[in-house]
Amino acid sequence: LKPKYFYDDYGSDLFENITELPEYYLTRAETSIINTISSDLMRTLDPTEIVELGSGSSVKTQSFLNNWDYEASQRTFIPFDVSRSIVENASKSFLASYPKLNIHGIIGDFERHLEKIPKPSGKRLILFLGSTLGNLDPEFQVKFLTNIHDLLLPLDRLLIGIDLVKNETLLNAAYNDSAGITAKFNKNILSVLNNRVGSNFDEHNFEHYAYYNQNTTRVEMHLVSKTKHDVFLPKINLHATFRSEETIWTESSYKFTKETIEDVLVQSGLRIAQWHTDKLSSFALVLVGLR
Ligand code: SAH
Ligand code: TRP
Repeated sequence: LKPKYFYDDYGSDLFENITELPEYYLTRAETSIINTISSDLMRTLDPTEIVELGSGSSVKTQSFLNNWDYEASQRTFIPFDVSRSIVENASKSFLASYPKLNIHGIIGDFERHLEKIPKPSGKRLILFLGSTLGNLDPEFQVKFLTNIHDLLLPLDRLLIGIDLVKNETLLNAAYNDSAGITAKFNKNILSVLNNRVGSNFDEHNFEHYAYYNQNTTRVEMHLVSKTKHDVFLPKINLHATFRSEETIWTESSYKFTKETIEDVLVQSGLRIAQWHTDKLSSFALVLVGLR
């Protein structure tokens, strides 16, 4: 399933809760890197525009804005997300905090609608945080990054947040939190399906199952059917029969090394300009430019 289907209003709220879970180290690690690098990065790049793809609440982005001369003329922040409420709320809160900044919110699918981004008025920094790249399958990672490549001008930069290959226990804990929020997030996709295609999934028939697959360096999230049962999806005229223990593979979260992300970038016509990790090397921010 495409990751975008997790983010209806309830799913977006659940995701915000995930970022605060004790087991979910990703957001804290990424925030610590951003707080360390944002001042130097903004001083040396001095972009006219910041575009943020899959922007969510844009909480981490404030660190970049706070180190930016955002009151200079023409400065524009462009949050881009598939969730309308997310884009509206983030835009409103940014208008209140940074009244002289231009905000151009875009509601769209970053795998299909990048042409909605206005023509650049100057140098650009594109942000793609939160390890969202890792939720795309490898062929779509290259496809997506190739589309970004086509948007970039020589002085523009792309900053990507990626989660790194690490100890399996930490990875499994991050996607199996003790409060059960990730399980709720995973099951919520059944309610999104019910709303969109009129299906009759009952989340009580499924169990959350997430594990790190070392061979493919990805966390796989599944919903495991507890019993043999049938589901009908009228709008796509599909009768689905589940055996007991059969799973719906709902999402993957790919983990990278410097070598594996570099390989994806090179295939997309891009290069690593800077590489930053947190103290424990659990997460990386990769600054990327044209090759
Ligand atoms: N960048 C934020 C949010 C990450 S969650 C952070 O780092 O915390 C992923 C975000 O990407 C969600 O807000 C979701 O709505 C958005 N998203 C997922 N797939 C998308 C797509 N295909 N197009 C646009 N936005 C998408
Ligand atoms: N991109 C993040 C990650 O892979 C956030 C995320 C997407 C997520 N889907 C998730 C987190 C499901 C927990 C569960 O970790």
